Amino acid sequence: MLSLLVLSFFYLALVVPLSLAKEWDYIIVGGGISGLTLANRLSEDSSKTVLVLEAGGFHSDDPQVAIPGFLGSTLGNTTLDWGFTTVAQKYSNGTTYAFDRGKGLGGSSLINFLAWERPSMAEIDAIAGLGNPGWEASELFKYMMKAEKFTYPSQTYAKANDLTYIASDHGESGPLLNSYPAFISAAQGPWIEAMNALGVPHNQDAFSGNNLGVWMAPATINAETQTRWDAASAFYTPISTRTNLVVETDAEVLQLITSSAGGNVSATGVLYTKNGTTITANVNSGGEVILSAGAVKTPQLLELSGIGDPRILQPLGIDVTVSLPGVGNGVIDQFFFAVSYELNNNSIFSSLRFMLIPLSLSSYATKTGICTVGVSAFSLVNLSTILGCETDNLVAEQALKIDFGDYTETEKERMNTIIDGIHSGDVGQVEVLGFPGFFTSKSEPTDGQKYLTFTGDLQFPFSFGSIHITSTNSSVQPAIDPGYFKEDFDVTVAIATLKFIRQIATTGGFKEMLGAELDPGMDTQTDAEILEYIQTYGGTEYHTVGSASMLPQDKGGVVSPQLLVYGTRNIRVVDMSILPLQISAHPMSTLYGVSEKAADIIMGVVTV
Ligand SMILES: Cc1cc2nc3c(=O)[nH]c(=O)nc-3n(C[C@H](O)[C@H](O)[C@H](O)COP(=O)(O)OP(=O)(O)OC[C@H]3O[C@@H](n4cnc5c(N)ncnc54)[C@H](O)[C@@H]3O)c2cc1C
Ligand SMILES: *[C@@H]1O[C@H](CO)[C@@H](O)[C@H](O)[C@H]1NC(C)=O
Ligand SMILES: *[C@@H]1O[C@H](CO)[C@@H](O)[C@H](O)[C@H]1NC(C)=O
Ligand SMILES: *[C@@H]1O[C@H](CO)[C@@H](O)[C@H](O)[C@H]1NC(C)=O
Ligand SMILES: *[C@@H]1O[C@H](CO)[C@@H](O)[C@H](O)[C@H]1NC(C)=O
Ligand SMILES: *[C@@H]1O[C@H](CO)[C@@H](O)[C@H](O)[C@H]1NC(C)=O
Ligand SMILES: *[C@@H]1O[C@H](CO)[C@@H](O)[C@H](O)[C@H]1NC(C)=O
Ligand SMILES: *[C@@H]1O[C@H](CO)[C@@H](O)[C@H](O)[C@H]1NC(C)=O
Repeated sequence: MLSLLVLSFFYLALVVPLSLAKEWDYIIVGGGISGLTLANRLSEDSSKTVLVLEAGGFHSDDPQVAIPGFLGSTLGNTTLDWGFTTVAQKYSNGTTYAFDRGKGLGGSSLINFLAWERPSMAEIDAIAGLGNPGWEASELFKYMMKAEKFTYPSQTYAKANDLTYIASDHGESGPLLNSYPAFISAAQGPWIEAMNALGVPHNQDAFSGNNLGVWMAPATINAETQTRWDAASAFYTPISTRTNLVVETDAEVLQLITSSAGGNVSATGVLYTKNGTTITANVNSGGEVILSAGAVKTPQLLELSGIGDPRILQPLGIDVTVSLPGVGNGVIDQFFFAVSYELNNNSIFSSLRFMLIPLSLSSYATKTGICTVGVSAFSLVNLSTILGCETDNLVAEQALKIDFGDYTETEKERMNTIIDGIHSGDVGQVEVLGFPGFFTSKSEPTDGQKYLTFTGDLQFPFSFGSIHITSTNSSVQPAIDPGYFKEDFDVTVAIATLKFIRQIATTGGFKEMLGAELDPGMDTQTDAEILEYIQTYGGTEYHTVGSASMLPQDKGGVVSPQLLVYGTRNIRVVDMSILPLQISAHPMSTLYGVSEKAADIIMGVVTV
């Protein structure tokens, strides 16, 4: 009894205060895709201590998260979704758009649509070419492969569903599992043939470095368990017992604590709240703070910590620690919209806004059936596919506008990179997908009626905007202004994309399979009517980049190729914020690769 008392005294007196007073080698802010990839790799070295602070909880096991067919059902659920909104979009009829972002261990990979894709190598090389040596595609692709493990389909299943791949272009041993959905709806059956008929060639494997064309895509699903393989399932759960790694959930970081002795600014730690208490966590003298809070919260945290544009910080009474005007500027978001059709054959499976919960959970017990459905019908097309002979004039007009327009040299350089991509004819300017279900919001679906929805998505909009704080209160979301449709070019391409989708719906097998167009419906005909539909019912594709760009500092950069925040000694950013240009892909695989590479840079395994 006595020894127990003594022991517990020591436990309280020594262990608890020690762990509170601990200084960390790495503090990672945000446990999303980047944060957990880093946490895993940095804690492989058992001599390094790693702390992850995540504002949300652990949700990988929640059925709504884990069951692939429930995708979309957690949007707007504030347990898992920050529930941001944009500011009223000046160039999009004043519309305010929802701006969902995941909250919880796994970040947005908890609530996203599981789409697994890769950009073309040329796009990554373009990012390297802006002044980021070491970030060439040949390097980054190796890290994308390191992160993932692809499960091959059976030959029968592949043949029946047009699944083609080149095995050597997929990862074989990484933590992030991906596979073709176990259930592929017959509504996607005519996809490849119809797109071929419209001049879009089949891509044998869109992961090989050129993703232009049409193909059936895999998803971030663990083939064995048939569960969503989010960043927590892949990179945290398997190593959660490492004693040098501590992950705090429901721990929201308020700001970084900095000191500016001897020139460069250093972070000494961060301030966070947990269960109503404000706590300080410190890094040791060689330690680092890594921001992986995503494209919205990372610029907010930098600004709240005095790192940013003095014109934003000073009016709010924030002392400028590092003057870095690029923070929160140069934001680029992809804009998407959808067109829905009734299916003539009501035996074909489709879902209603992906809210499958009342449906057929029984078959999920055997890991089959509609709960294992994913989005498979993918395509990326160049502008001439969408705009035909109008392309050259439109592009020439935009190129002139860039040359003579009121843009900074950096903005011009970035826009001209997009122009180069268009001229190459080899870059997927527009993505079109086929979703086996009802996924538009103008009309209500009819009970028992089945639907197919096509989405159109501008991959490389010329419009750009900003994300900035408007308050020193960290609970107030920053002003998100993607500047949708600021550039008329984007308006023209969006309208032409909707018309192209209508062509798909009347081509090949879709001609028989599809009945009436529900949204927007055939009374939407003129360009003005089409634009009104797109701007009213479209929105973010959730792929925001550029709020803490990796660029030379004199080009508005926030981080160096080492991902160090300029003017600081030990603050890095590793998340979607760092990409200075869009990519023509759902960004997860790129971001896992970026994070793998970042871990090697931080550990000194590679130098860039
Ligand atoms: C609805 C939706 C659908 C998508 N669909 C796809 C898809 O199908 N395929 C694809 O490839 N990509 C998709 N994406 C995009 C992809 O999921 C994101 O680009 C990616 O997750 C971004 O990773 P990140 O590390 O930058 O941020 P996140 O993964 O969002 O992680 C950021 C984390 O930081 C935490 N955090 C933020 N602020 C703080 C703070 N102050 N303190 C502590 N923690 C904090 C957040 O809670 C979050 O967990 C989708 C995204 C969304 C939102
Ligand atoms: C929101 O998500 C949480 C966690 O998965 C779940 O428990 C809750 O039921 C969801 N709420 C709604 C309204 O779906
Ligand atoms: C500040 O950091 C940069 C790297 O970001 C380095 O080149 C420079 O020498 C540092 N300056 C001082 C005074 O430490
Ligand atoms: C949270 O704080 C409350 C009141 O301060 C306390 O009663 C409760 O035990 C705490 N919960 C946890 C999980 O620490
Ligand atoms: C309707 O779809 C089902 C399921 O895919 C299929 O078996 C059937 O042949 C289709 N019927 C017609 C008339 O096409
Ligand atoms: C656009 O793509 C199509 C199909 O991939 C191709 O035939 C065409 O040559 C491309 N256009 C240009 C300008 O390269
Ligand atoms: C900070 O903002 C939140 C959300 O708007 C609000 O609930 C809270 O009261 C604010 N805190 C302070 C100190 O103003
Ligand atoms: C603009 O939005 C208003 C509603 O706010 C709507 O009534 C109007 O039709 C829209 N106009 C266009 C051109 O989109």
